[in-house]
Amino acid sequence: MKDRSDYKGTWEALAPDEEGARMFVAGHTDNSEWDRSALVTRDILKEYVGLEPTDVLLEIGCGMGRVGKVLSPLCQRWIGADISSGMLSCAHHHLQGLDNIELVELDDVSLRAVPDASVDLVYCTVVFMHLYEWDRFRYVEEAMRVLKPGGRCYFDNVDITSDHGWEVFQQSAGFPRDNRPAQISMTSSGDELETYGRRAGFEGIQIRRWGGAWVTLTGRKPV
Ligand SMILES: C[S@@+](CC[C@H](N)C(=O)[O-])C[C@H]1O[C@@H](n2cnc3c(N)ncnc32)[C@H](O)[C@@H]1O
Repeated sequence: MKDRSDYKGTWEALAPDEEGARMFVAGHTDNSEWDRSALVTRDILKEYVGLEPTDVLLEIGCGMGRVGKVLSPLCQRWIGADISSGMLSCAHHHLQGLDNIELVELDDVSLRAVPDASVDLVYCTVVFMHLYEWDRFRYVEEAMRVLKPGGRCYFDNVDITSDHGWEVFQQSAGFPRDNRPAQISMTSSGDELETYGRRAGFEGIQIRRWGGAWVTLTGRKPV
């Protein structure tokens, strides 16, 4: 496998321009499907962790701001953090005209640029499949650090126990071992995500599944 840990190198190369970035974020460049899928994510967040007009939101791995565009009008401030400067420049373009957003380029698997206890909701969607397990956990720990007491978190990944998840698993397994793309999708189980939440110290942890494909971790930072 190419070096999966080189997230920056991998994702700079995958986002050379807006079309390339869209392909690697969603697998297509269809505008209406793009907007529809952002609304689905918004509704899941609303239902699972709630969205308040006073919230400071942080998205880990925000890509082109697909979700930020529909969330920024609903919150006080939306912060999009990503490892790829190419993705962030597409986000800058996609989010033009929104005045309560901030884009942060990450240099490592860390939210170093984000102060402790400064965020009400941290979420991370369609990112964990591209990370090693250790780095998934690292971001759950970082979410705990940057959240205010009582703050909420949401993480998702493709659910290996679903039929779709098993298809993804088999597709990834089909790559020749010495030619696996660095960003190849790797699934999660609910037990894996629950373990991260518990070990990082979240309370009120819930593992839920939706869309016949996704498994999610939500929790709250203790007050
Ligand atoms: C499939 S895209 C999803 C983007 C966005 N969350 C969405 O749902 O539209 C995956 C994103 O994760 C980012 N990414 C990959 N590895 C990362 C890492 N280690 N830390 C932060 N972001 C990362 C990529 O640059 C890319 O923007």
